[in-house]
Amino acid sequence: MVHVATQMRMDLLVYKSHILAEAVPYIRKYRSKIMVIKIGGEAFTEGYIAKILQDAILLNELGIHPVIVHGGGKEITKEMERRKLVPRFIKGLRVSDAATIKVLKKVMPRTGAEITKLVGLLGGVSKQMPGHKGILEVQKVSEELGYVGQVTWVNTKSVLRLLKKGIIPVITPLGFKDGYVYNINADTAASSIAIALKAEKITFMTNVDGVKNGMELVPSLAIKEARKLIRKKIITGGMIPKTEACIFAVKNSCKKAHLVNGTIEHALLLEIFTDKGVGTQITKG
Ligand SMILES: Nc1ncnc2c1ncn2[C@@H]1O[C@H](COP(=O)(O)OP(=O)(O)OP(=O)(O)O)[C@@H](O)[C@H]1O
Ligand SMILES: [Mg+2]
Repeated sequence: MVHVATQMRMDLLVYKSHILAEAVPYIRKYRSKIMVIKIGGEAFTEGYIAKILQDAILLNELGIHPVIVHGGGKEITKEMERRKLVPRFIKGLRVSDAATIKVLKKVMPRTGAEITKLVGLLGGVSKQMPGHKGILEVQKVSEELGYVGQVTWVNTKSVLRLLKKGIIPVITPLGFKDGYVYNINADTAASSIAIALKAEKITFMTNVDGVKNGMELVPSLAIKEARKLIRKKIITGGMIPKTEACIFAVKNSCKKAHLVNGTIEHALLLEIFTDKGVGTQITKG
């Protein structure tokens, strides 16, 4: 008779082999394709960043090209509070005056540098690309938001050059225009970058399971339904620019956009390489 513990170990191994087998067609499908991965700022403070980066490194090893765009929400707010500045948001976008931009210029590149360093420690190769240094050109969104930019041009040449060498770009969502530095919501930046690079997929790693309607996770949303949830104020705060970024991406070059809980171990791999996936996917509909 097989010992229970031995049987359980065997079951686990069989289960793992099923997952690997299920991944094969996806690996083939996505090989040499670009995937933009936006990592929410909280990933750092909560310490789940290393797992996400490990997954990104694995994608890179498989010949899929991850491009990382990072946020900085909590760290920015912390530094603003330290400087006695009061964070203000309009429809989930941070109002950015000159003092806020000073904070962003300090905090955001530091986060990008930490990600790059961590990728190296985990055995991968990446390069930090601060958006305001010739990577992301913007135009002002509105007077009331101050120095908040919408991407008008992406230096795809520099990004593609890195991808060709197997280096993972880590893009900090700050923009430039007429000698000024602009804040770009990281989700908005990620979708513009994905479109400019003609990325196959865009995935937003955040601190919730996906879009929720009350307590319920919504596994799949067409553009129309997503807009309705924003109108009905079921989607609020930071989820508004995130959902709009998904809509923007799928209306253009991306086939699908995903919202995934980055605090779940290997959620990124599960989303990409399994039939069912996790989180919320937004499709054209
Ligand atoms: N319907 C909804 N479903 C899920 N989350 C929602 C919804 N409406 C609002 N939210 C909020 O949106 C938040 C995610 O956006 P948020 O901007 O805070 O994080 P992020 O974009 O991952 O990080 P960062 O802004 O630092 O890049 C969730 O933590 C949740 O509080
Ligand atoms: Mg956000």
